[in-house]
Amino acid sequence: MNEETVVRANTPSKPPGKRRQTLDIKAELEKRQGGKQLINLVVIGHVDAGKSTLMGHLLFLLGNVNKRVMHRYEQESKKAGKASFAYAWVLDETGEERERGVTIDVGMTKFETQTKVVSLMDAPGHKDFIPNMITGAAQADVAVLVVNVTTGEFEAGFEAGGQTREHALLVRSLGVTQLAVAMNKMDTVDWSQDRFDSVATKIGQFLKQAGFKESEVAYIPTSGLSGENLVTSSTDGRLTAWYNGSCLLEQIDAFKAPKRSVDKPCRLCVSDVFKEQGSGFCVSGKIEAGYMQLGDRLLVMPANETCVVKVISLHDEAQDWAAAGDHVTLTVTGMDITKVTTGSVLCDVNNPVKVCTRLLARILLFNIDVPVTKGFPLLLHYQTVSEPATIKHLIGIVNKSNGEIVKRKPKCLLKGQNAIVELRTQRPICVELYKEFRELGRFMLRYGGLTVAAGVVTEVRLDSSD
Ligand code: GTP
Ligand code: MG
Repeated sequence: MNEETVVRANTPSKPPGKRRQTLDIKAELEKRQGGKQLINLVVIGHVDAGKSTLMGHLLFLLGNVNKRVMHRYEQESKKAGKASFAYAWVLDETGEERERGVTIDVGMTKFETQTKVVSLMDAPGHKDFIPNMITGAAQADVAVLVVNVTTGEFEAGFEAGGQTREHALLVRSLGVTQLAVAMNKMDTVDWSQDRFDSVATKIGQFLKQAGFKESEVAYIPTSGLSGENLVTSSTDGRLTAWYNGSCLLEQIDAFKAPKRSVDKPCRLCVSDVFKEQGSGFCVSGKIEAGYMQLGDRLLVMPANETCVVKVISLHDEAQDWAAAGDHVTLTVTGMDITKVTTGSVLCDVNNPVKVCTRLLARILLFNIDVPVTKGFPLLLHYQTVSEPATIKHLIGIVNKSNGEIVKRKPKCLLKGQNAIVELRTQRPICVELYKEFRELGRFMLRYGGLTVAAGVVTEVRLDSSD
């Protein structure tokens, strides 16, 4: 048999032979979005601030919610004694959420502005659901912080224990720098400029401390309930008398889209795993770097197993490829479903993500009342998951402005300090160095239900000895 016959004889048994065409990913991305940029937006704020109502109403005004469906929500929510939640039902889809009138899981959908395709995540405000909120926040590029300006209620949501500050700190530590503050329920204060100014000033001071630049924060008076100032500028004289700025949609359109790391090795952070009919199973998550094509073989870490991508679905539409910035659901085969969980990373077989239980990090301590000492137990939140961890060594306190170590081996760390520490997790986790993959190199530390520090990974230690 000559060589040619061998090749021909083999061809039928290699069906995916044609699949791995080289893709000009940047050109394809441009084409797919019709020139529009993709942006991931999380909506955050204290419980009952009106997040779901605001965004549900915005979607309705944009024509993304069918009039008949909206009418049904109005009827049904009225029957359930929850008439004021009709617009929230657009995003609060489960029976429990509708009955209780709270968001539990992050609601996801998409809409378009003039220049952007927006992936919307409506986070829960209740503090019991902070882990879900973090899952959404970890995938966001920009945020809308919804603040209830109603007299007395703003104050409750803003004081310690309220979620306004907590959420703002969380998104900032996850890398969000652009913020639109929806000053919501303005109808309850008769669209008062004084109230608007006094609330905006208080929030502004706090946001500055939290590390937001003034130029990257915009304040927009809104009413999620009446729909005022959401997709078109308000014509209500009480507002136009003192406000001529953007409406919420214009502000969202004005956000700058972040640079996507499509040139880097593929990384998909898993936020959900589930079984559907048919072969294989489904994995959802955000592609943080690189891109993938149908038929690709990817490595799943920390399990160290490979799988094959059979279906790529983006906003419920099947695709041949997907790239950094996309939230996708993949159908994969070739591995056991028990080997992949929330927090796993699907990555390039030849250039895998780092896996470790020991890492060095530079952390910034926020509001913690107890001194942080060696052995301190914490929850390490990174990407979409949290993992118990301890501070193994306090390596040094760092000068915030120049990054130099000012004190080696301190006995303890106090609030406001910047320090290098060694962290140890119970189970292996997937991380990257901050300087190599910003998105995968940052995390938060929580203690007693509060976020006490934000950190970036500076070194990964592969041996597990002390
Ligand atoms: P969680 O998801 O549970 O944190 O709440 P949320 O922030 O999504 O609030 P939601 O949209 O569920 O609204 C809570 C209540 O506030 C509902 O009764 C809404 O009708 C009401 N509400 C929302 N926006 C406005 C507004 O602009 N004006 C007034 N008067 N009420 C509003
Ligand atoms: Mg909600």
